[in-house]
Order: sequence, then C-alpha cells, then structure tokens
Amino acid sequence: MRCVYLDNAATSRHKPNSVIEAVNNYLKNIGCSPGRGGYECSLKAGRIVLETRLAVAEFFNVPNPEQVIFTHNITHSLNYAIKGLLKKGDHVVTTSMEHNSVVRPLRSLEKRGIIGVDFISCDDTGMLNPEDVSRAIRDDTRMIVITHASNVAGTLMPVREVAQIAQKHNLFFVLDTAQTAGVYDIDFQELNLDVLAFTGHKSLMGPPGTGGFAISKRAAREMVPLIEGGTGSISDREYQPDFLPDRFESGTMNTPGLAGLKAGIDFIKEVGLNEIRGHELALAKKLIEGLEQIKGVRIYGPRNINLQTPTISITVEGFDTGELSFVLDNEYGIMTRSGLHCAPLAHRTIGSFPEGTLRFSIGYFNTEEEIDYTLECMERIVGR
Ligand code: ALA
Repeated sequence: MRCVYLDNAATSRHKPNSVIEAVNNYLKNIGCSPGRGGYECSLKAGRIVLETRLAVAEFFNVPNPEQVIFTHNITHSLNYAIKGLLKKGDHVVTTSMEHNSVVRPLRSLEKRGIIGVDFISCDDTGMLNPEDVSRAIRDDTRMIVITHASNVAGTLMPVREVAQIAQKHNLFFVLDTAQTAGVYDIDFQELNLDVLAFTGHKSLMGPPGTGGFAISKRAAREMVPLIEGGTGSISDREYQPDFLPDRFESGTMNTPGLAGLKAGIDFIKEVGLNEIRGHELALAKKLIEGLEQIKGVRIYGPRNINLQTPTISITVEGFDTGELSFVLDNEYGIMTRSGLHCAPLAHRTIGSFPEGTLRFSIGYFNTEEEIDYTLECMERIVGR
C-alpha cells in the first residue's frame, strides 16, 4: 500500500538524510555529555550544542546566542514563558485559537487565583482582529501570548500588529511558532519578542525531544527558572547560576537531538524558506481547490494561502471525521489527524466543537502527485 504522510502539523515524519546522519554521528562517534568533562568527546558534544545555539540565533535573528535556551519541546518552552514570567495579579491577553500548550498553563494559573486572562474571540476562520487585542489591554496587563498560526485551521495571526500593541503598552510578547518556524520568516528583533517559543521536530526538521525559546534580556531578568539543577557550571554553588543560558538549562542536554536540529536548520537554509513555503503553499492551494469540488466537504479556515499555513481542516456531511481518517489510512495509506488537535478552544471558534475536523497538513517532502492521489481517494470515499 502507498504511504502518504499528511500530518506535518504534528511532526515532520521524513527528515533530511543529513539530520539522520548527524544524530547517528553523535551516537556512534561522540556519545558523551556536553559541559561535563574535559575529555575530547565531551568537548565535541559541547561544540554541537554551541553550534546549534548559534544556528538557532542566526535563524531567528536573536542578538546573542546565549539568549537561546534549549528545552525538550515547545510545550516546555511555553510553560517557561507563562509560569516563569507571570506573577500574582498579572493580566494576560491571548486568543481563542490557542493550542492547549498555552491554554492549560494559563487556565491553571487563573484557577489558582494568580492571574486574570482574556481569550480574544477570533472570527470563524480563526482570524484575530488586532483592535480587539488593544481593547483588552488593562492597567494590570503584563503579557500578550499568541500563536503565530493555528494548528487546526492554519490561520496566520497578524503578528506585526500585535507586536506593535505589545511594544506600545510595554508588555511581554510571547509567540508560539510551533506551526511556522522553518516555513515563515520569524525575526526575533523585528517583532520585539520577549519569548519566541519553538519546536525542533516540526518544520525545523529536527528529531522529537528538541525545542526551546529565545528570550529578551529584560524577560530573562524576570523569568523564574522552573527547573533547577546541574548545569556543569559553577558547581561549587548550591544556587542556580544567574547567567544565560545556564539559568534555564539544567540536566543532561539532548545532544543527539540538537545535532539533528542543527542539520535540519542547515537544510532549510540551503533550500531556502521561500522555496519551502512556495512548494508547501502550492500543494495546499491544489488541495483546497480539489476539496472544494467534492460534494459535502466543508473547509474551515481562511481558504486562502496568503492568509494561512498549509494546514487544512475539513468536515464531510454524513461522515465521522475519525472514521474518515481511519479509512484514509487503513485503505489508502494516507495519514491525517482527526478530532480536536489539542485545541478545543480553536474548534469552538471555527464551529467544529465537539466533533472536531479531519486535518491535512502538508510538509516540504509532499508531492503534487500525493495531493492528486489524496483527492482521488477522498472522492472515492465520499462518493460511496
Ligand atoms: N500540536 C500538534 C498537532 O496539532 C501535535 O498535531
């Protein structure tokens, strides 16, 4: 049976060979912990971490590589940003299109009486009106946290406008780039970000277990480290180092993962973001246009590749989305994700709660022929 992977919003299943080689090289030839020994293989591991940090800093235009902190995934990064920066009495503005990695930490702090939070309602395509963000700002507002693009409907958020609002009111601005890093240009300094949270295993092409955040100097001064422990630095002290990146990086690093992440970023730089985005969006356009022709299909989100990522959510009249996803996989070898995508609020916003949607998400290694095949299969299933 064929094997067509259309769940790239969850993770990029196919990695460039150079990523696999970099992970293998670490496991076969290095294998030691960075910053924990003076012997050759530990120094080599340290160099991998440093080079990956430099690559991430350059990729997102972060002024100093020490402002790049590695975590194990973007959920950890967002928890750091939210729980590490907010204090009792703070108010937060966010959107109704957020993933649970933002919603749950916020709700948890709210439930404990620590913060107040406003979820700005987006329209039924998932689009945020920046004026609504402005209107929600109060005297006690301290942070705006938004996704760069919805993992459900692909909707791209007006980040530049929101960045200006955050700057005007001197608020922490936290951006969730899970769905955009590695496909769209993201400039830490231009957006005046305080926290740019990223994952390594999606479009940055790295292995799972990689991710991190870039942090502004002012946010770093205020952020409380959520995890403390061994850093390999100033080991004579019983207190966490106060300098970057060690303040926020305790415990053994995922060095094989970071070796792969560096290779992933190198691959993206070699191919070029424009080429990657152009390819993915051309396939998304073809898929949207094809789905529009199939009777009973309802497409959510902007349905316009200038306003969205190559992530497309649908429902089909008379079909259960879980069953559709199962049939696509079981009979045709097409992998999709159905349900609520860990983003129930986003589904409420676009009108697909509680049933959820069937989601197709395209990556750089998908082909036009795979989209044709997917459309053919959808027609066959729906026409039964
Ligand atoms: N948040 C990822 C997704 O949407 C895992 O599938």
